[in-house]
Amino acid sequence: MSRKKLIAANWKMHKTPAETRAFFATFLPLVNQHTRDEIVVCPAAVCISAAVESTAGSHIRVGAQNMHHENQGAFTGEISADMIVASGCTHVILGHSERRQYFGETDESVNKKIKSALEAGLTPIVCVGELLEERENGKTEGVLRRHCQGAFSGFNTEHVLNMAIAYEPVWAIGTGKTATPQIVAEAHAFIRKEAEAEFGKEAANKLRILYGGSVKPENAAALMEEPEIDGALVGGASLDPASFAVIVKY
Ligand code: PGA
Repeated sequence: MSRKKLIAANWKMHKTPAETRAFFATFLPLVNQHTRDEIVVCPAAVCISAAVESTAGSHIRVGAQNMHHENQGAFTGEISADMIVASGCTHVILGHSERRQYFGETDESVNKKIKSALEAGLTPIVCVGELLEERENGKTEGVLRRHCQGAFSGFNTEHVLNMAIAYEPVWAIGTGKTATPQIVAEAHAFIRKEAEAEFGKEAANKLRILYGGSVKPENAAALMEEPEIDGALVGGASLDPASFAVIVKY
């Protein structure tokens, strides 16, 4: 079982185009020999062009943080999968807990976005994960099952191999509280079982499951050593080029 790890940066609502260029001017020389894993940076939509230009000719890929499920139409303020692809993106983060919490995204709307992303040839990084209250009330598996069903429903084996799941326990996002490698491994094993029930063992074994939530230079190695963890989705610690380079090189 060898799954290539995917290390993705989620910049959220940070950085201008000029700051994006400055980031890559420092970051690229730090990681240019470093092709072991797949590396993706997801800036704000207005910085995608700057990121694509800055990373041209390198092994770094660029992703978006969200998209609409329709490809065009009267949806003021939205961007579509085709637009993202045309701008040079290969990946898109979908269903991030902040999108679910502040922008009303549901398993149903995330499912539509996954379909549209796959049709456009993007790799969706689909976020799943429980709230602190849900973990404390023993509801983690139920939440993960619901999120996974939302992510997997209507798709086939080929589709699932073109997506990645990011397990992001909400209580670990931006809080400095990282889930231990054991907690993460358990959740990942559960997610993989859900994938197996839907798509069979072979496909489930190939599905990449990333961890996200306060991944930092100090804890990246311990997390990435865990065989169930196929990469990381990194928020705060990806904004600084030196810090993200240390994570990439864990
Ligand atoms: P964090 O964010 O690394 O700042 O906790 C992770 C995420 O929300 O994807």
